[in-house]
Amino acid sequence: MLHFHLGKDLFIQQAREPPGLLCLLEVTEGNRVSLYGNASLTGTETTFERDEIIVSKTDVTGKLIYGNRLFFKMAELSEKECIGQQHNIVRHPEMPRTVFDLLWETIKSGKEIFAYVNNRSKTGNNYWVYAHVTPSFDRDGTITGYHSNRRKPERKIVDERIIPLYRDLLKTEQAAASPKQALRDGRKVIQDILSDSRMGFNQLMFSLGGG
Ligand SMILES: Cc1cc2nc3c(=O)[nH]c(=O)nc-3n(C[C@H](O)[C@H](O)[C@H](O)COP(=O)(O)O)c2cc1C
Repeated sequence: MLHFHLGKDLFIQQAREPPGLLCLLEVTEGNRVSLYGNASLTGTETTFERDEIIVSKTDVTGKLIYGNRLFFKMAELSEKECIGQQHNIVRHPEMPRTVFDLLWETIKSGKEIFAYVNNRSKTGNNYWVYAHVTPSFDRDGTITGYHSNRRKPERKIVDERIIPLYRDLLKTEQAAASPKQALRDGRKVIQDILSDSRMGFNQLMFSLGGG
């Protein structure tokens, strides 16, 4: 496995500061969070087996057109509740916007991306995934939609690398004066890590290990 410098400060900051919450939140009840009308977070993490894959497909706008059985099970949603909805139906409020901004920029440009994502179920539980998201093309090379396969990530990588990185990104986003600036600042955090490690984003994700 390649080694790179995630920045000691990320870990120091994590120890000093509690995780923040995104400015996108609709309702807050104490430290519980509701988003898109979904239930507050329960703090309970659920998981799936190493040989299982969570699959979903969307149209070009990110609207769900397919989910496999495990997708619905983990989301605690029925097929009826999901299909036709935006994929952010499983968005977790503590996921940095920067990650999704990068995801969409990458797949819209016709490329694939690998990313660790924390998702939220209907009842407010959360589940971490290691996601591969890729465009689907027609014969002319036009993007017709997107497809994602997700595996169970390595616990140690999520705990030691991803959670500190995402907390740092969230904090950076929250400190920004505007939503646009939040994404610019978030990108800079990622860019600095990539420059230090001399890797692209997918390489960085691979270097951590896919689980
Ligand atoms: C194929 C595909 C799979 C996606 N998978 C997820 C996912 O598992 N969790 C998630 O929160 N967003 C996922 N997204 C990104 C969402 O479309 C959305 O950008 C994200 O939830 C942020 O929502 P927001 O922009 O409303 O904050 C996926 C997008 C695509 C195209």
